[in-house]
Amino acid sequence: MRADVLCEVIRERCTEKVLSSEPFPASSETTLADRLLELAAWAPFHRPADASHLEGREQSGIMPWRFYVLDAESCRKLRSRLIEKDSSKIMEMLATADCLVQATWLPNPSQDKGEGLFAATLENMEHLAAAGAAVQNLLLGATASGIRNYWSSGGILRTPEVFELLGIPSGELLLGSLFFFPQDVGEATVATSKLRDKRGPLSGWVRRVSVQ
Ligand SMILES: Cc1cc2nc3c(=O)[nH]c(=O)nc-3n(C[C@H](O)[C@H](O)[C@H](O)COP(=O)(O)O)c2cc1C
Repeated sequence: MRADVLCEVIRERCTEKVLSSEPFPASSETTLADRLLELAAWAPFHRPADASHLEGREQSGIMPWRFYVLDAESCRKLRSRLIEKDSSKIMEMLATADCLVQATWLPNPSQDKGEGLFAATLENMEHLAAAGAAVQNLLLGATASGIRNYWSSGGILRTPEVFELLGIPSGELLLGSLFFFPQDVGEATVATSKLRDKRGPLSGWVRRVSVQ
């Protein structure tokens, strides 16, 4: 019975972008409950984040991810701050979202400036994988609670300007801007994803291996 419920929620989760050029009214009470955010903490993780992400920080949890949570009012204010510079769909979602979570992961600090965003190490791969699992937990919890959700790459929300505005340390990397929307969307448009129905059968990505 429990497995049935879980399987149903996993299948039900889907990308839903609620888009409107007119901002929805926002009250500061609209956000994600702690009980949903706590689900993320139950994701598996292999190693504690590097000490440089913990020492002297307000958020010093050992998990290799951080969530920065904006309620509806803050989403509208962020939209107002950015709309002169950005005309993408991100603005139309900041106009409707009840909550935005800026989900980051915590790469091990790198000595080599030529490494790109982060060093290609096993440790970093596992930090990133753990953070992805934390995000999925949250999206599933939202789905089970009837909250529309969308995992976005972030667009302008990835920029140093937005990191600074939200007080996100520059050593963290944005894994996704997670939008949470109301059920009642009035005149707004709900857009789904193009890839959802393209997954194909199990045989496209599973091979059962027998060892002789
Ligand atoms: C890391 C990550 C980043 C994503 N970024 C975007 C994005 O920027 N724009 C977008 O339309 N969808 C984005 N998506 C959502 C995917 O397009 C979507 O999950 C996929 O098409 C499957 O559809 P479904 O979520 O409805 O099952 C992202 C998903 C992941 C995991």
